Amino acid sequence: MVAQLLGLALLYLTTSPVPFAANGMSVYPVPTSAVEINPNWEVVYQDTNVYGVVGKAVILECGPTVPDMYIWSFTQPGTEAIRAVVYNLGKGPRIQKLAETLGQITIISNSAAVSIEKLPLAAHGLFTCQAFYDIEREPKVYYYYVHLTVRVPVSKPNLLLSDASPVEGSTMWMRCILENGTDPIKYTWQHETRNGNITVIAQGSSSIINVTDVNRNHTGWYRCVATNAVNTDSSNRLWLDTIFGPDLPEINVTPFSITERGYSALERETVSLLCQAQSNPASQYVWFYNNSQVYTGPQFTITKILRMHTGDYACLAQNTYLNTRSKKTISLTVYSEPRNNMYPAVIGAAIGGMLFAAILTALLLVYIIRNRNNNPRESQQSPASRNPLKDCDVVTHFVCFHRTA
Ligand SMILES: *[C@@H]1O[C@H](CO)[C@@H](O)[C@H](O)[C@H]1NC(C)=O
Ligand SMILES: *[C@@H]1O[C@H](CO)[C@@H](O)[C@H](O)[C@H]1NC(C)=O
Ligand SMILES: *[C@@H]1O[C@H](CO)[C@@H](O)[C@H](O)[C@H]1NC(C)=O
Ligand SMILES: *[C@@H]1O[C@H](CO)[C@@H](O)[C@H](O)[C@H]1NC(C)=O
Ligand SMILES: *[C@@H]1O[C@H](CO)[C@@H](O)[C@H](O)[C@H]1NC(C)=O
Repeated sequence: MVAQLLGLALLYLTTSPVPFAANGMSVYPVPTSAVEINPNWEVVYQDTNVYGVVGKAVILECGPTVPDMYIWSFTQPGTEAIRAVVYNLGKGPRIQKLAETLGQITIISNSAAVSIEKLPLAAHGLFTCQAFYDIEREPKVYYYYVHLTVRVPVSKPNLLLSDASPVEGSTMWMRCILENGTDPIKYTWQHETRNGNITVIAQGSSSIINVTDVNRNHTGWYRCVATNAVNTDSSNRLWLDTIFGPDLPEINVTPFSITERGYSALERETVSLLCQAQSNPASQYVWFYNNSQVYTGPQFTITKILRMHTGDYACLAQNTYLNTRSKKTISLTVYSEPRNNMYPAVIGAAIGGMLFAAILTALLLVYIIRNRNNNPRESQQSPASRNPLKDCDVVTHFVCFHRTA
């Protein structure tokens, strides 16, 4: 109602001649849009965001219905000029030269939507569709702003290690190199152990990670994975080989026999000494007897060991790559064979004999005492309910002695 009244008022203002006195002449004022404010005549502005992928296709819509006329324009980011791409003033679409730089542009039939194939990066920017509806009656004007973002997929990343064979305790970095990819890019770092266990060791926006204090557990396959809004791609895996050692050696003696003086063995036995020291590359071993080198290799075996072989045995482990070494010494005492020495057997026999004699004497004594007292039984138990031990006269050393009547 108000709008109608306003319209009438405007009609009156613009149509009724208002005489002006200028240089003695009477003129009519030229109607300007500045004074014609009518909500029905306001241009409608609408914004949309469209995300395209470089090289792929995208469709830019110019409103939900087909306008009578339209003009598609493009504004490059960082510039102010608006330049026409295609227009249709009712006589069919007229594609402009500029369109060539924006990809393969076609107008979708029976619509004002623009289809762009093989989207180039250059199409990144603001597309404006000025659409005119109801031209015959009460024209309406719409401005559709389509903000086109052209994204680039991440290309296959390249993993770079500052050192593929770092020494334990050192510091290194890993870098994920990408040729292409629209930001923001997320980097994921994966570690795969020898047994195929994959863990994520780091994740974030940084394309480089530092590994301080590298240790042997860092050994394994590494991969970096790059992800953006378009896609995810993974680098080839790289093997990281931590160099370390040798650790303090462990010596295994077989047969195993230990005394307060160290390891012991019996004469004529075959004694085997096995040395193991964790190292990468693997340790090389040298055996020493009383400080003289006697063997090279992890397992030193002495067949038919003699008492004269008593002494100190040392295993030296070497990492020839790092030129580092580590040593462990054990002492081994060789005793004579037991069958050549009757001492333990003689002692055993003597003790056994004495014990037997003592028990026999004690039993005899008890027997004599019992017989002499000859006390009558107090209980009148039936034989069936008798505790077998209660029935005993003497219980000693799990032997039951019954008194004879
Ligand atoms: C990166 O993009 C450029 C330009 O689009 C292209 O020529 C190149 O092949 C891409 N590189 C990779 C690794 O995909
Ligand atoms: C893999 O690693 C995780 C974390 O270190 C551990 O919990 C899991 O038991 C491992 N799996 C195998 C098969 O080693
Ligand atoms: C890695 O270490 C370098 C110095 O060696 C440093 O400049 C850089 O900021 C570190 N990066 C990270 C992610 O810690
Ligand atoms: C390596 O891993 C093992 C087993 O998970 C662990 O016992 C050891 O302490 C780790 N070594 C280092 C140097 O972190
Ligand atoms: C080795 O040393 C041990 C203990 O010091 C000693 O008893 C033994 O006689 C030595 N053997 C040789 C062959 O020197």
